[in-house]
Amino acid sequence: MSLFTKQKNGNGSGNHAMIDLRGVHKYYKTAVGDYHALNSIDLQINAGEFVSIIGKSGSGKSTLLNMITGIDRPTSGEVFVNDAAVHELNENRMARWRGKTLGIVFQFFQLLPTISVIENIMLPMDFCRTVPIREREKRALDLLETVELADHAYKLPTALSGGQQQRVAIARALANDPPIIIADEPTGNLDSKTAEAVFALFNDLAAKGKTIIIVTHDSALAKRTQRTALIADGEIVNEYVAKAMPTLSREQILQAAHLAKAQTYEAGALILDEGTNADTFYVVTKGTVEVILPRANQSDVIAVQLGAGKVFGEMEFFHEKKHRASVRASEHGAVEVLAISYDQLQELLSQSEVTREALHQMADQHEAENLQKRGSS
Ligand SMILES: Nc1ncnc2c1ncn2[C@@H]1O[C@H](COP(=O)(O)OP(=O)(O)O)[C@@H](O)[C@H]1O
Ligand SMILES: [Mg+2]
Repeated sequence: MSLFTKQKNGNGSGNHAMIDLRGVHKYYKTAVGDYHALNSIDLQINAGEFVSIIGKSGSGKSTLLNMITGIDRPTSGEVFVNDAAVHELNENRMARWRGKTLGIVFQFFQLLPTISVIENIMLPMDFCRTVPIREREKRALDLLETVELADHAYKLPTALSGGQQQRVAIARALANDPPIIIADEPTGNLDSKTAEAVFALFNDLAAKGKTIIIVTHDSALAKRTQRTALIADGEIVNEYVAKAMPTLSREQILQAAHLAKAQTYEAGALILDEGTNADTFYVVTKGTVEVILPRANQSDVIAVQLGAGKVFGEMEFFHEKKHRASVRASEHGAVEVLAISYDQLQELLSQSEVTREALHQMADQHEAENLQKRGSS
């Protein structure tokens, strides 16, 4: 495994995502030319996160999962999973690596129909030899116990209902105790009550510290995961831009993210200085920034803290375009922001009056809060 230790590409954060896609493109060759299925995907998922991926049919969700599992390869870009460079693994290593690292659950269960339920669960253990032979059956039974199907261990999968088969598939995904579970529409073929039971299992696994990604059509289920990545036409719709300006359409959020320039600041670094000309609007995408308000006759300052999905530079956009406060990265860690020039913001807001209004209100509200903070002692 150490052969594939991830090379840090110096974003200065020192963070180590469990799943890290950088600049991933996927083209499919078709009769009518190349089809661009994934476009410049950057996605980081930390250990222990429970993430849902949503998007229309054909938007690229399964293709994205296939990049992470190594079932398919990116045309360009890098995919790191649990420190392995997946895009560089050869087929031989890939299968064993996958067996130990990932549990994969599919919409149509994909259990082998000619062997028993318990044999289906023992198969990954046989393949990866992670568990001593003597212990495999016991472990499989224990796993069936956790999905409440121990009574069905020696039946053929076809004797079980769809929901039961999916629970078997989840038990099978856990056979080698992988740190990561990947599920492609695991509830897509189940009625809502059964879907709920299956989702509850994923919830339990998340609570036990597994890193989980599920693709789902069900936005109500997606809302119950810690984080949702929206994919449209092969692109991740920036979740922080979406949070900052929720009234933008998906297309407008994509456009904003395209226009924006990603910038990184070291812990404590000054991002902008009070009194200077303002020409940029910022969305925080990682870490925390502090807004520092100078107070008349006093040397002390008051900091407002803004985390991911919060914005700054919007007040000056609507007013006199001179910075009214300084902004710096918090001492606690590096900060990443998306910088959007006022010209670009102007263009964007001209397409969404409701967003302009929302941002204007936010600016006025922040101004009122700041006045209050400056005034109080
Ligand atoms: N092997 C393939 N060859 C050509 N086109 C493909 C292939 N697999 C998927 N596609 C196309 O790529 C797009 C994304 O597919 P997919 O990732 O399966 O979407 P989703 O899972 O979001 O429904 C679709 O337009 C699909 O038709
Ligand atoms: Mg799919």
